[in-house]
Amino acid sequence: MTETIIELETEFERIIQSDQRIEPRDWMPDGYRKTLIRQIAQHAHSEIIGMQPEGNWLTRAPSLRRKAILMAKVQDEAGHGLYLYSATETLGVDRAELTDNLIEGRQKYSSIFNYPTLSFADVGVIGWLVDGAAICNQVPLCRSSYGPYGRAMIRVCKEESFHQRQGFELLMTMMSGTQAQRDMVQESVNRWWWPALMMFGPPDDRSPNSAQSMAWRIKRHTNDELRQRFVDMSVPQAEILGVTFPDPDLRWNAERGAHDFGEPDWDEFMQVVKGNGATSVERIANRRAAHENGAWVREAAAAFAARTAAADTTTSEQE
Ligand SMILES: [Fe+2]
Ligand SMILES: [Fe+2]
Repeated sequence: MTETIIELETEFERIIQSDQRIEPRDWMPDGYRKTLIRQIAQHAHSEIIGMQPEGNWLTRAPSLRRKAILMAKVQDEAGHGLYLYSATETLGVDRAELTDNLIEGRQKYSSIFNYPTLSFADVGVIGWLVDGAAICNQVPLCRSSYGPYGRAMIRVCKEESFHQRQGFELLMTMMSGTQAQRDMVQESVNRWWWPALMMFGPPDDRSPNSAQSMAWRIKRHTNDELRQRFVDMSVPQAEILGVTFPDPDLRWNAERGAHDFGEPDWDEFMQVVKGNGATSVERIANRRAAHENGAWVREAAAAFAARTAAADTTTSEQE
């Protein structure tokens, strides 16, 4: 018996070390399964809750074109949530259980979605910086050791890069408009820059699960590595746009070949993670209401499935 477990562990390690994928039917350590469920569920919840900040502007988009783009983007996020809930189900948890965990506050979602969207420029800045940070985080996840997660991420990333471009294009249009529009963009960038940096999670020395996730090749880079990559990627884009980031310590470091930058306010981050963000209560209340309002759809689908199954049984008995 013990020998069998050792053999299974050896085989699991061999798959991980040779950069092959672990698939749902493969044996995996409990810790690996639990870490994946937590990470993928949190990711799925973020996609679903993330529909709300931008959804806030759907009815007030300034033109039909902007409205169509924003609707497509918000619908993409719903799709991302569904791929990811499906990936989580391959690990043996039920989507209904995950939704309960979210609305009862037992599982988290990205803290970025607990900030309010105060102007239409926020739609552009979210696309540019929030989807941009998501891309930095998610491109390496396409090579995650768990097959269903990695494969879901490939499609998600393709759509995220469209999201980032639509945000940048919206901001370029506003920046070539009036002074009031340019001010609106800069004000929005000032509010979102630090929360975007926080999307990569706490610094490496305060991120206890990172080392194990790296060893299992669920994660490929540390939080600080990804944050650095995002800063280096964003600075030239800000120059093209003609906006600045609200960080007096941000400057090019020729020796490191990378930008130095200031420290995000980690106390604020912890407060938002704990559910004390400006819109935390509203986000969950909306999600709960949507779930409760959809109860009749689930009941109807279950009743239809039961009736179809009963009809199938009768037909096969007659055969
Ligand atoms: Fe997404
Ligand atoms: Fe997105």
